[in-house]
Amino acid sequence: MARNRYDVDENLETPFNIKHLLRAGQYIGRHKKKMILSLIFSAISAAAGLLGPLMVQRGINVSVPNKDVRELVLLSVGMLAAIIVSVLFSRARSKYMIEVGQEIIYAIRKDLFEHLQKLPFQFYDDRPHGKILTRVINYVNSVSDALSNGIINFVLEIFNLVLIAIFMFICDVRLSLVVIAGVPLLVVVVMLVKPAQRRAWQANSNKNSNLNAYLHESLDGMKITQAFVREEENAKIYERLNTAAVKTWMKAQYTSNLIWLSVDNISTWVVGAMYIVGLVMLGPAMQIGTIIAISSYAWRFWQPILSLSNLYNTFINAVAYLERIFEMIDEPVTVDDVPGAVDLPPIQGRVTFEDVTFSYDGKVNVLEHFNLDVQPGESIALVGPTGAGKTTVVNLISRFYNINEGRLLLDGHDISQVTLHSLRSQMGIMLQDSFIFSGTIMDNIRYGRLDATDEEVMAAAKTVCAHEFISQMEDGYFTQVNERGSRLSQGQRQLVAFARTLLSDPKILVLDEATSSIDAKTERMVQQGLEALLKGRTSFVIAHRLSTIKNSDRILFISDKGIAEAGKHDELLARKGKYYHLYTAQVED
Ligand SMILES: Nc1ncnc2c1ncn2[C@@H]1O[C@H](COP(=O)(O)OP(=O)(O)OP(=O)(O)O)[C@@H](O)[C@H]1O
Ligand SMILES: [Mg+2]
Repeated sequence: MARNRYDVDENLETPFNIKHLLRAGQYIGRHKKKMILSLIFSAISAAAGLLGPLMVQRGINVSVPNKDVRELVLLSVGMLAAIIVSVLFSRARSKYMIEVGQEIIYAIRKDLFEHLQKLPFQFYDDRPHGKILTRVINYVNSVSDALSNGIINFVLEIFNLVLIAIFMFICDVRLSLVVIAGVPLLVVVVMLVKPAQRRAWQANSNKNSNLNAYLHESLDGMKITQAFVREEENAKIYERLNTAAVKTWMKAQYTSNLIWLSVDNISTWVVGAMYIVGLVMLGPAMQIGTIIAISSYAWRFWQPILSLSNLYNTFINAVAYLERIFEMIDEPVTVDDVPGAVDLPPIQGRVTFEDVTFSYDGKVNVLEHFNLDVQPGESIALVGPTGAGKTTVVNLISRFYNINEGRLLLDGHDISQVTLHSLRSQMGIMLQDSFIFSGTIMDNIRYGRLDATDEEVMAAAKTVCAHEFISQMEDGYFTQVNERGSRLSQGQRQLVAFARTLLSDPKILVLDEATSSIDAKTERMVQQGLEALLKGRTSFVIAHRLSTIKNSDRILFISDKGIAEAGKHDELLARKGKYYHLYTAQVED
């Protein structure tokens, strides 16, 4: 079966690089106070929790033989108090850790989203959106725990280990040595199995990411899938990705269990050995209370060792995730304000292409030595075959992509030298696919200018003949439309997008196939509104339907990486060139 790009795993098997963990310090650093308090609380809780066996030892070895009831009661109360203190401090610490964890997630998510919004079109052209989602959601969630709890636990477990060892040695040095003797054995097992376990979890995370990405795309393309009855085929692809996710999960679980089993085994042997040494070799001199206390410490002794090895794994994974997250935060904003960029002053609307060469991929030029000078207020129509570069021309004016050679000037200002905000806020762009956001129709139109009043929104809608159909909807302008606007017809969606663009009151207007889905009658009406509106603005209109652009001041026929023909409708017809052929072919239809 053909593999698709969802089978391509992310590279998570990167060498452990402390750099990323240190860099994550900027997120942790903001919570120093809570982290330190948590550490202190954890230490108190751990120490209190360890007092129990010592009191048991005292009780069995001393109080019981002496029949000292008062001391036994005191010891019981002491144990209870120790447990309560331990639980209370552990709860306080959990509360702080939950807060810190969430605050870290919040901060990373915020930085990521803010950066994602700055990333150029190119970034989104190049990768499945589902994989971006995985990074923003799953990876961020995973690292936040490692960064908050993980770091505290790491310090704490070392502290625990030392503390338990001290308590154990206080009970009895010889028996403690028996317990410690088990450590090298455990370390060997852990060292052998852990790397496999880590790889297994990373593989699982990769397969999940692939599954998510495919699911995301499938949801987006569901209608096409059903229209082309591709369900079975897609189910197979999904099944393959799903199987991979399940298999890797099972394997990861299996290796994890292996560790627990070994630890269980080793600790049982060690405790057994300790009983033998205590009872048989040391004989009657050994008190029973001491053996019980030591065995109880021995069980606890493995816990921090195991936790530390788990934490080590968590950190390794977290570092891999952090690396992916930082990679995205570091993703260069190739289309950005240059240092010292100035605001573009309010423009008249002159647009000049000076010998512009542009390529999306750095290999094939879409435009070559493209020259064009558009006067303020001039209406330009771009026509030409599919894929000729019409959309590209208008994308460049808004600087959605950087040009490779030449210059692009607005009123004589090089657009690469001005701030993006000042540039784009003076442009009205209606892209080829009119995107509708979830919310009301009012919100959708107002997207172009947030401070517009309801009346202004309606006026814009009236201009583009959208008012009529909007008023007929059940809640008028306050009708909720969902993401992608599937409640609206294609033409209605275009009208809403149209109103949105007009409302932003731009000096330069770009309409990419803006009227392709509107019926001829509505289009004529829109045309009238448009003409009034286009007055005083420079406009670029791309249309396949040539009737819409007949009245343009200048028609450019784009082909062969440049302008093949230019002129008014009548001139171009008289020339009997490419435009003439395109036009007559349409009229004949
Ligand atoms: N994001 C992109 N990444 C890489 N290549 C692209 C990208 N967008 C367009 N292209 C390529 O650039 C060329 C010009 O595309 P463009 O979208 O400008 O054509 P167009 O004239 O607007 O076509 P249409 O009339 O179909 O809208 C095409 O060959 C296309 O394959
Ligand atoms: Mg196009």
